[in-house]
Amino acid sequence: MSSLPLSRSEVFGQLRKELHEDKEFHQSDVHVFVIMGASGDLAKKKIYPTLWWLFRDGLLPEQTYFVGYARSALTIEGIRTACLPYLKVADSEAERLSVFFSRNTYLSGSYSEGDSFSHLHSHILSLPGGNMANRLFYLALPPSVYHDVTRNIRNHCMSAKGWNRVIVEKPFGRDLQSSEELSAHLSALFTEDQIYRIDHYLGKEMVQNLMVLRFGNRIFGPIWNRDSVACVVLTFKEPFGTQGRGGYFDDFGIIRDVMQNHLLQMLSLVAMEKPASTSSDDVRNEKVKVLKCIAPVSLSDVVLGQYVGNPQGEGDAKLAYLDDPTVPKESRTATFATAVLYVHNERWEGVPFVLRCGKALNERKAEVRLQFTDVPGDIFAGHCRRNELVVRVQPNEAVYAKMMSKKPGMYFSPEETELDLTYRSRYRDVKLPDAYERLILDVFCGSQMHFVRSDELREAWRIFTPLLHQIEQEKVSPIPYTYGSRGPPEADNLSKKVGFRYEGTYKWVNPHRL
Ligand code: NDP
Ligand code: BG6
Repeated sequence: MSSLPLSRSEVFGQLRKELHEDKEFHQSDVHVFVIMGASGDLAKKKIYPTLWWLFRDGLLPEQTYFVGYARSALTIEGIRTACLPYLKVADSEAERLSVFFSRNTYLSGSYSEGDSFSHLHSHILSLPGGNMANRLFYLALPPSVYHDVTRNIRNHCMSAKGWNRVIVEKPFGRDLQSSEELSAHLSALFTEDQIYRIDHYLGKEMVQNLMVLRFGNRIFGPIWNRDSVACVVLTFKEPFGTQGRGGYFDDFGIIRDVMQNHLLQMLSLVAMEKPASTSSDDVRNEKVKVLKCIAPVSLSDVVLGQYVGNPQGEGDAKLAYLDDPTVPKESRTATFATAVLYVHNERWEGVPFVLRCGKALNERKAEVRLQFTDVPGDIFAGHCRRNELVVRVQPNEAVYAKMMSKKPGMYFSPEETELDLTYRSRYRDVKLPDAYERLILDVFCGSQMHFVRSDELREAWRIFTPLLHQIEQEKVSPIPYTYGSRGPPEADNLSKKVGFRYEGTYKWVNPHRL
């Protein structure tokens, strides 16, 4: 990327050019984007805003129309008002926003009745493009209505002349069996190339960068294996609790909410072999292959936690998970988990992959950390610390390698320091797109690389289902940890036991402070 100031549209223009290469994407085609569940939270906070940003930046095909669909009696004006706080509209963009909403229509109807969907079909036919338009259906819906809605889309709403694509949001089931049932249902209705299963972590800049870092450089490849890597740690931390969303969360828990999808996706990109090409299926074949080498997680390799209030904390920090009025009083649902996985192949045998995730912790952070082994044959009297390569996904995207260097000046002793690629300073003028922007654009382009294939999903559930069932059957109690802490100390003990070494000696001096 250039260091010259680039406008957002220029950056996206470049991106679109890259994405459209080799793809059947015709700028002149008419597209209709249907938001199923247009009255809901996801639609309001994520889907409408994302469509607006893509539209505003001129990234969507010229003739794209948006149709909201839900049970409630709504108007476009009502949707616009509900979405407004999330649209981030600059004063100069008011006119463009009106053009965007002039492309929007809304239809209310049932999720289960075929007639309502026939009506939706007629409505889409009445839009420019008629039966030639390509159709995208975004399911921003609770899983309870997935079956009905997808069946009705298939039976009543498919374009006969254009293509049809269906975007599905997690949760994709609760365990292997329910996920397989959903997959069987979907595959009876649509072909795999019509189904786009979203894991929004695959749309994040640094998650996408993992492949380029690994396979576009010579320096990492030869040490990316069990000979040099002592341990891999994949982390997701949030500094807030469930905040009234506990009703949904309590049914799933942190393993289903974050670990089985976001963290495992990152793991597969870190651990997979080099694909034959960057085509969607070559990449996903490698991801499936590496997942197949992972044995189901055993409970003895897991620490579960649930946050309790901090009496000294401020505001929500005083509140325990169980104080959330939408959470059952006796809930044993984990809001924190650390699990150790092993990849049984020639590259990784014996290397622990530590997956850590939790809510109400001390900071917001998602990262991949490779900790390398000690240097054999030490000549520095034990003063060297292990190297680490950290890919920080958020906040403040960065790649840094913790390393030893000579203490500057009249010394000859090693000192901990880092090689540092901080995006905010290296790519000062580049605005990184939101994960949903990239992913929705990929659906228009027909690129499935950053979407979850059904066999990947099956493997992910195979790895976690026995553990999830055991936790439920044995009613395993999570360890309490304080809101705003690093989680239960037992989790650090587990990481230590499997080989992660924390010295507490590394001090970061931020040279980028503006
Ligand atoms: P640290 O040595 O502080 O932490 C390394 C790892 O040890 C982390 O995974 C951390 O987990 C874990 N850890 C922390 N405390 C304990 C403990 N008591 N027991 C066991 N494990 C522990 O190094 P970092 O790489 O995290 O760097 C320190 C700071 O410097 C960070 O805030 C980092 O973002 C910043 N930095 C920023 C850079 C940049 O912006 N370009 C470059 C280099 C550093 P946990 O995540 O839970 O704390
Ligand atoms: C979602 C989880 O998938 O990811 C949420 O359901 C979590 O619980 C969210 O808060 C985190 O996403 P991000 O992009 O804010 O890291």
